[in-house]
Amino acid sequence: MLLGTNGSGKSTLLRLLARLLTPHSGQVELIQPVGFVFQNPDHQLVMPTVGADVAFGLVSEHLSLVQVRQRVSEALSAVNLLPLQNRPIYTLSGGQKQRIAIAGAIARHCQVLLLDEPTALLDPDSQRELVANVRRLVKSRGLTALWVTHRLEELSFCDGAFLLEQGRVVDQGNPERLRQQLLKNQPVT
Ligand SMILES: Nc1ncnc2c1ncn2[C@@H]1O[C@H](COP(=O)(O)OP(=O)(O)OP(=O)(O)O)[C@@H](O)[C@H]1O
Ligand SMILES: [Mg+2]
Repeated sequence: MLLGTNGSGKSTLLRLLARLLTPHSGQVELIQPVGFVFQNPDHQLVMPTVGADVAFGLVSEHLSLVQVRQRVSEALSAVNLLPLQNRPIYTLSGGQKQRIAIAGAIARHCQVLLLDEPTALLDPDSQRELVANVRRLVKSRGLTALWVTHRLEELSFCDGAFLLEQGRVVDQGNPERLRQQLLKNQPVT
């Protein structure tokens, strides 16, 4: 999990890891391809229907139609959205769109998922559902998920946490310790 105030560099770090940005110095070593889930799923779902959107990421893989269909069904099942395969994207809720974006990464067999504030727009039920979904994928498929959030309660669900300040990691380690630390530093209102 990746935490830090607005402008501390969380999204920039994710973009560097996804090779959407090139570092001025140093280098990035990461298993490619990585799946990127944007904070606003409207910025990344590009096709008219759910199935077509998940298949869209596979165009460069030279698969047969049967293989594409199989990957799409497998990925949609992984996020519990197979019944929505033929639904137009505009009919989906925010939480469902986030899960379609995750399905796109699963279909490409990404081993690393980068999620930029995926729960920022979600209500508490959808938040819990998305956290549970990603945790299940991490366990069942051995995925690594790097999750950016401002919601401290989500720290209870991760294995490790990093705190960024002005582009640098200023704290890292046990999520519960970090949660207590951040709660202590919050001003009392
Ligand atoms: N393309 C860019 N060109 C110049 N400066 C940028 C660019 N992208 C980000 N920055 C700056 O880099 C800093 C880190 O931005 P970044 O988007 O990574 O922050 P963040 O931690 O994701 O913040 P938030 O919680 O608001 O999403 C900010 O000061 C931002 O203005
Ligand atoms: Mg950001």
